[in-house]
Amino acid sequence: MALSMSGIVAVLMVLSLAPLSLGGGYLCPEYYDKSCPQVKEIVWSMVAKAVAKEPRMAASLLRLHFHDCFVKGCDASILLDSSGSIVSEKGSKPNKNSARGFEVIDDIKAAVEQACPKTVSCADILALTARYSTVVAGGPNWEVPLGRRDSLGASLSGSNNDIPAPNNTLPTIITKFKRQGLDVVDLVALAGAHTIGFSRCTSFRQRLYNQSGNGLADSTLDESYAMQLRWGCPRSGSDDNLFPLDYVSPAQFDNYYYKNILVGKGLLNSDQILFTKSATTRQLVELYAANIGIFYDHFAKSMIKMGNITPLTGLEGEVRTNCRRINSS
Ligand code: HEM
Ligand SMILES: *[C@@H]1O[C@H](CO)[C@@H](O)[C@H](O)[C@H]1NC(C)=O
Ligand SMILES: *[C@@H]1O[C@H](CO)[C@@H](O)[C@H](O)[C@H]1NC(C)=O
Repeated sequence: MALSMSGIVAVLMVLSLAPLSLGGGYLCPEYYDKSCPQVKEIVWSMVAKAVAKEPRMAASLLRLHFHDCFVKGCDASILLDSSGSIVSEKGSKPNKNSARGFEVIDDIKAAVEQACPKTVSCADILALTARYSTVVAGGPNWEVPLGRRDSLGASLSGSNNDIPAPNNTLPTIITKFKRQGLDVVDLVALAGAHTIGFSRCTSFRQRLYNQSGNGLADSTLDESYAMQLRWGCPRSGSDDNLFPLDYVSPAQFDNYYYKNILVGKGLLNSDQILFTKSATTRQLVELYAANIGIFYDHFAKSMIKMGNITPLTGLEGEVRTNCRRINSS
């Protein structure tokens, strides 16, 4: 007896809905409810502890999830060290001397492995860690869809090309977000992550001295703010000196990032151009500066969208036991 066409379709549908499908599967917040009911509690308490020890860690951990998701999807590729044929993303232009928090992720992973061996992926740990970092810094909360699996490789070129740079033009930044399925609202809302954390002098120096190759500072930068920045960020040297991305409240997940931009006190060129280069993005900056509730709501929604960028699911990839290495190495 031949299987009917609709029978084949039904079989395919059942296969794709099974928890261990080949991939293309969906994430859901309940993914570990049976296999590791403690995971959220463990990640929450360890993030809280790490941030109590060093407030900046909330920012550093939140950024790791972003730099993971923009390169081959949210697959923990950023956590792999170089070995064998793997060239670590940690050496890329956006990550080198900049991405941090890897030891905290190691500690969280070790605690989760102890409670639930070989069960929770490093990619899901990054997603949960980004959420709790936001919450512990006073920002919004959201349910994180789970069920990502970890990559078997890294992409240095992806890390260099796909993560926006602070001196990219607004159209380039919009294009880089669009490529990930993120729109202009997602861009302006997610950029609000710069309400916490720090930047090195080297990431914004150009604005202070020679913005357009004419020997002049960026005219959209507030002059007294620029003068303060020049103190710690001279024409040459001091590349790694740190400056708050939100000078008003660098450890508080509030909306001062947007309020600063309104008055020419965004630190990075990529921050300030959201206000100066397009009416659409400017109106969103104004909206979030005026209404922290809408900012929180959009930020949470966009974080879920970012966390859903091409995850590995089902039998794709693996669940690493050590986030720095693939299991077979
Ligand atoms: C819109 C494009 C973006 C650009 C061009 C950009 C660029 C940068 C740069 C240059 C730094 C400072 C790095 C350094 O000097 O060491 C930074 C820091 C940071 N970024 Fe972004 N970023 C963008 C979007 C995002 C998004 C979407 C998030 C998260 C949702 C994020 C989270 C952070 C955080 C929290 C820090 C501070 C990290 C720390 O203190 O360790 N950024 N970003
Ligand atoms: C951005 O900065 C990097 C150095 O940090 C430089 O190599 C590159 O040419 C700059 N791009 C633009 C468009 O200014
Ligand atoms: C500014 O940059 C341009 C081109 O990058 C360079 O030719 C010029 O010498 C610089 N001017 C100063 C004052 O640094």
